[in-house]
Amino acid sequence: MTTPAHVAIIMDGNGRWAKARGLPRLAGHRAGVEALRQSVKTASKLGIAWLTVYAFSSENWSRPQSEVSDLLGLLKLFIRRDLAELHRSGVRVRVIGEREDLQPDIRGLLDEAESLTVGNRALNLVIAFNYGGRDEIVRAMRKIGADVEAGRIAPASITPETISDALDTSGIPDPDLVIRTSGEMRLSNFLLWQAAYSELIFLPCFWPDFTPEQFEDALRQFSVRERRFGGRIERDVVSSSA
Ligand code: IPE
Ligand code: IPE
Ligand code: MG
Repeated sequence: MTTPAHVAIIMDGNGRWAKARGLPRLAGHRAGVEALRQSVKTASKLGIAWLTVYAFSSENWSRPQSEVSDLLGLLKLFIRRDLAELHRSGVRVRVIGEREDLQPDIRGLLDEAESLTVGNRALNLVIAFNYGGRDEIVRAMRKIGADVEAGRIAPASITPETISDALDTSGIPDPDLVIRTSGEMRLSNFLLWQAAYSELIFLPCFWPDFTPEQFEDALRQFSVRERRFGGRIERDVVSSSA
């Protein structure tokens, strides 16, 4: 079975999971953090090198203030409680998304998570927080624009690599597989540039119900997908001995 090197997950459906149980949305988000902990363990066990999780989008600020502060609180709690354990397990944490405008305490925690785990090699956990694909591309274009203006690069020398290198995900391989839970079939501004040739799997379950078995099953589905990247599969070509 071909294991994807990089799996990216849109952890969606916490609110509906809670609603179906007559619970407040916060209970769904808490259960979502538990599913995240499980998934990090499963990813390590299955030998996945990179796991990216969509934790909070640049558009999620438009939710009611109380839910936004619940989500920020859970992120802080997750890092405070789980960082030591992640570090012990050899997990390297990286954070993508806009960081400048975040509250200083959150920025501090994100910086700490990255610097503490920088030497770890077991699993790379990429947390997309205050992340939006379009926002990321805009920030990358500003950097490139400044380089052009300063005469450091010529517009004609800009390549896809120039853009990849200017994104938050610089140095991270593109995701091979993107999984979204909750039955929604859209990217919601996740890894727009990077997911150009990713395989997509949409699962009906809500994120808190995502189990290690479902994770493994998604990898099985991935392993039988035929990725062509716009090219041709050689076995279709009849070889000629002439
Ligand atoms: C995903 O669950 C968590 C975040 C977006 C932060 P939702 O909160 O979007 O749950 P639904 O989609 O409303 O059920
Ligand atoms: C995407 O889910 C963002 C995260 C999972 C963090 P949303 O619930 O925000 O997406 P939409 O609004 O359904 O597109
Ligand atoms: Mg949602």
